[in-house]
Amino acid sequence: MSPNRPAAVVILAAGEGTRMKSATPKVLHTLCGRSLLGHVVAVAGALEPEHLLVVVGHAREQVTEHLAGLDPRALTAVQDEQRGTGHAVRTGLDELSRRGVVPDGTVVVTYGDTPLLTTETLTTLVAAHESGGNAVTVLTARVPDPTGYGRIIRGAGGDVTAIVEQKDATASQRAIAEINSGVYAYDARLLAEALGKITTDNSQGEEYLTETLAILRQAGHRVGAHTAPDHREIAGVNNRVQLAEARRVLNSRLLVRAMLEGATVVDPGSTWVDVSVTVAPDVLIHPNTQLLGATSLAEGAEVGPNCTLTDTAVGAGARVSNTVADRAEVGERASVGPYAYLRPGTRLGAGAKAGTYVEMKNAAIGEGTKVPHLSYVGDATIGDHTNIGAASVFVNYDGEAKHHTTIGSHCKTGSDNMFVAPVVVGDGAYTAAGSVITKDVPAGSLAVARGQQRNIDGWVARKRPGSAAAQAAERAQRHGDPQP
Ligand code: UD1
Ligand code: CA
Repeated sequence: MSPNRPAAVVILAAGEGTRMKSATPKVLHTLCGRSLLGHVVAVAGALEPEHLLVVVGHAREQVTEHLAGLDPRALTAVQDEQRGTGHAVRTGLDELSRRGVVPDGTVVVTYGDTPLLTTETLTTLVAAHESGGNAVTVLTARVPDPTGYGRIIRGAGGDVTAIVEQKDATASQRAIAEINSGVYAYDARLLAEALGKITTDNSQGEEYLTETLAILRQAGHRVGAHTAPDHREIAGVNNRVQLAEARRVLNSRLLVRAMLEGATVVDPGSTWVDVSVTVAPDVLIHPNTQLLGATSLAEGAEVGPNCTLTDTAVGAGARVSNTVADRAEVGERASVGPYAYLRPGTRLGAGAKAGTYVEMKNAAIGEGTKVPHLSYVGDATIGDHTNIGAASVFVNYDGEAKHHTTIGSHCKTGSDNMFVAPVVVGDGAYTAAGSVITKDVPAGSLAVARGQQRNIDGWVARKRPGSAAAQAAERAQRHGDPQP
């Protein structure tokens, strides 16, 4: 049963979030690569409502600006004073009517700080609401500890008669484990009517949205409830302990999905992924790995341990170990690390290698080309099947501007080379170890750019007489062993 498009989704996000103890507004705190509000807007947006409206108050400029980046179609209503959830929804509907919109159909109400709520649960809530012909349907949950929540009061027939807040509840009502999630589906017209009738007759002197249930029931309308399959879905984030807990739940959900789709995650407890990460079947993820942003791992890729990959594409069958990478592309069967740092603009071709203690930036590395040890490759293009010797540096910066180095295919450059850019090494060329390459090297030649070695006979005996070195040298000369 698929429900209609809601007329509107109203997200309440005017509260201050003081318990976060933060200069950042609560709903802008992030988990799994999205803000709290971002998760809620994504879930609400999936229902394709005709209007998506966020009620803002505290730090409204920041929240409004952030929202524009999340969904440019989203509207905001400003609630200057937080006079309760009922007042907040009324502020939202007033804003819609100011824009000439009188919602007709279902209006969904939810909070900006409940990032774990799923589209499935919201869809089921709306479907239950519409098929039951209800005036309002509240999403409830049975929780181990209901302290602080509004309790669901049911009549003899099991119907919901009211919601009572913790502060207004009797001892026996406080014992009820079924709580109000704060998420509702309403008939738009009846919601507007009921909002006009709510009072402030409660211990906090606020306009409680929850009062609309009793109002609608007393007016003879149907009041329904839908219980969330997993109570953790409705958990709100009020402090950083709850933020960490929500992050753990969401992360674990993402990893479960990846595992059920064929990825092996060796240690889900130390593997962290963002919502926008994609993981193909037969990927193997070792412990202590963070996959962030739009990172993608193709089939058979092996990543970790100890990797942080941001917006990085790892090709099929590639191996990445102990690596930090940001906006890099790792070709299929390529090998990275251990202890590599791939910075933005690094593109490793198929079967290429960025080995141990290798840093790369803005560098295109051809197929099968290897940079195995202790090197910096910045602003470079290297052809196919070339080998760069250990401890090489692409000297790209003259103190004012960056310059490019181009190395051809099938080259063998010696260890401890400096390529002083701009410089070009032709296909098939060799360079000698210890060379400082400042001039272009033609294809097929050997470049030698280093001082000549000179041996000064008997220098130690003359300058360091009696030293351990002098004695060792003397013994060696006497025995003829070891001699070069
Ligand atoms: C509310 C419910 C309670 C429910 C709980 C679930 C009421 C009266 N109570 O209680 O039954 O169990 O949520 O979490 O509705 N907000 C505004 N403007 C306001 C007041 C609140 O935008 O004037 C926003 C807050 O930013 C927050 C949400 O509404 O995102 C809930 O407000 P909060 O004060 O936390 O409600 P609770 O007292 O926890
Ligand atoms: Ca509260």
